[in-house]
Amino acid sequence: MEALILTIWGLFLLFILYFLVFQPSFSDVPFLPSSNSLIKDILQYFPLQEGKVIYDIGCGDARILLAAYKIQSKATYIGVEKNWFPFLLAKFKLWRIGNPPNIKIIRKNMFDLNYQDADFIYVYLLDSVLDKFLDKFQKELRSGTVLLSSSFRFSQKTATRVIDLPNKFGTIIRNLYEYHF
Ligand SMILES: C[S@@+](CC[C@H](N)C(=O)[O-])C[C@H]1O[C@@H](n2cnc3c(N)ncnc32)[C@H](O)[C@@H]1O
Repeated sequence: MEALILTIWGLFLLFILYFLVFQPSFSDVPFLPSSNSLIKDILQYFPLQEGKVIYDIGCGDARILLAAYKIQSKATYIGVEKNWFPFLLAKFKLWRIGNPPNIKIIRKNMFDLNYQDADFIYVYLLDSVLDKFLDKFQKELRSGTVLLSSSFRFSQKTATRVIDLPNKFGTIIRNLYEYHF
């Protein structure tokens, strides 16, 4: 009897975990954070300069933004995340470094935010999600905004640069696609 109760509890907890991490019916992309071994290479393509406004749309646990902040603490970093689990992880990580005022994590559906103040946008989403964004970006982004996409690309916009990541062995991310708006 005890074994049965434990199994039921185990299954229930697994379900809750699965729901919190992936929220399958509400999410456009699951929470699959960029591999830590690639972050340094990815950040080489960020304009890490004072005053720049840098977004990670679908920021997960904000690991990219926090790593960027460690290099340049005087830019503004904005993460957008809809799912509670990665959002709370990101907030916890921010709290651990004293909640710097220039890092903001917004819990919102990424399609419901305006990105006109962005100098630079990083995304690790899906081809189909990028395509859903294209019209919005073309109307909204300032001329000169750069978007860097891990692994995925727009079907109707040509990348200005395709970067072949050197340390991709054992990771899902293979290329970065850079777009100028
Ligand atoms: C592949 S993960 C990338 C996480 C992070 N950018 C990184 O590179 O480590 C995609 C993230 O987008 C979030 N996401 C999916 N649909 C979303 C939506 N409609 N609005 C905001 N965030 C969303 C997921 O919860 C997940 O954390």
